[in-house]
Amino acid sequence: MKMNLKGDKVSIIGAGNVGALMAQRILEHGLANVILVDIDEGISKGKTYDLQDASPIIGYEKEILGTADYSEIKNSKIVVISAGFPRKPGSSREDLILKNSSVVKEVALKIKEFAPTSIIIVVTNPLDIMSYIAYKTSGFDRNRVIGMAGVLDSARCSNLAAEKINIKRTEVDSIIIGSHDKNMIPLFNYSKVEGRPLINVFDKQKQRDLAEQTRKRGAEIVSLLKTGSAFFAPSAACFSMIKSILHNELLTVCASVYLDGEYGLKDIFIGVPVMLGKNGIEKIVKLELSDDEMENLKKAASALSASIRKYENS
Ligand code: NAI
Repeated sequence: MKMNLKGDKVSIIGAGNVGALMAQRILEHGLANVILVDIDEGISKGKTYDLQDASPIIGYEKEILGTADYSEIKNSKIVVISAGFPRKPGSSREDLILKNSSVVKEVALKIKEFAPTSIIIVVTNPLDIMSYIAYKTSGFDRNRVIGMAGVLDSARCSNLAAEKINIKRTEVDSIIIGSHDKNMIPLFNYSKVEGRPLINVFDKQKQRDLAEQTRKRGAEIVSLLKTGSAFFAPSAACFSMIKSILHNELLTVCASVYLDGEYGLKDIFIGVPVMLGKNGIEKIVKLELSDDEMENLKKAASALSASIRKYENS
């Protein structure tokens, strides 16, 4: 069947757990047509056929195409990079730098060639470093390269907080900035529990426990799964970002973005609150941080810079 290309086109590079589930979410919500690209054409085609077979049951209006041919991504509004290797039990995101940097570089060059006006959302880990590499390799304006991490980390924190006090999971709204690793920084004074500041509901010890559990959530899931990393919440997080861009919702979320002086940081990708709309990053939101939070953000940034320098010299 020929693809009915009415409506927006979103390309997903990497048809693994995260990429394929993201495609399913996009189709089931009728958000956009999807091009699912993988270096292994069997994976992108096989998953595409399976998703198409579900269409008569679920009734998608949009189409999906599975391919290894990058020319199909032309005219995509958004290209998601979810290609690469996930974490294994015991491995850190940093272990992935060398393996995934060559994948992200290769993919970013293809995006530059075939979808030069698109907005890139990076999912591949280690997220902040891969976003930096995608940005430098593509040469895109900084509003068009966005790393997905903060939506996921914030959702994990909200979920864990809700469980602790037995309220609805949707009644907590957390904000997490910093890097997508052990240096993530929960902003509990800006986070809300049933509309109240989280710091008025959780005492200091409970806040520390919550922060620690949130930091370890990804690794906890990796060690339970044994063969890969999380994909339900990551694909949901990325879906919400895609939706905000395509529908120009101007949703404010935390994402890893290129800072050029904001928060006193330069030449780095790190998580901060941003507004997402039709141009990608419409605005970097400046929050007042406490001295401790600012100190932690600087610490996260210098760890990321050190990793990038190490990678550049490798
Ligand atoms: P997966 O292993 O299920 O899928 C990865 C896919 O990428 C595979 O199908 C593989 O064939 C493909 N691939 C590898 N090299 C490629 C290349 N050069 N070009 C095109 N495709 C290529 O992995 P999963 O679970 O989908 O995760 C993907 C990435 O996303 C991993 O790096 C993982 O760590 C990261 N991730 C990031 C999260 C975040 O919060 N930012 C959350 C979850 C995963």
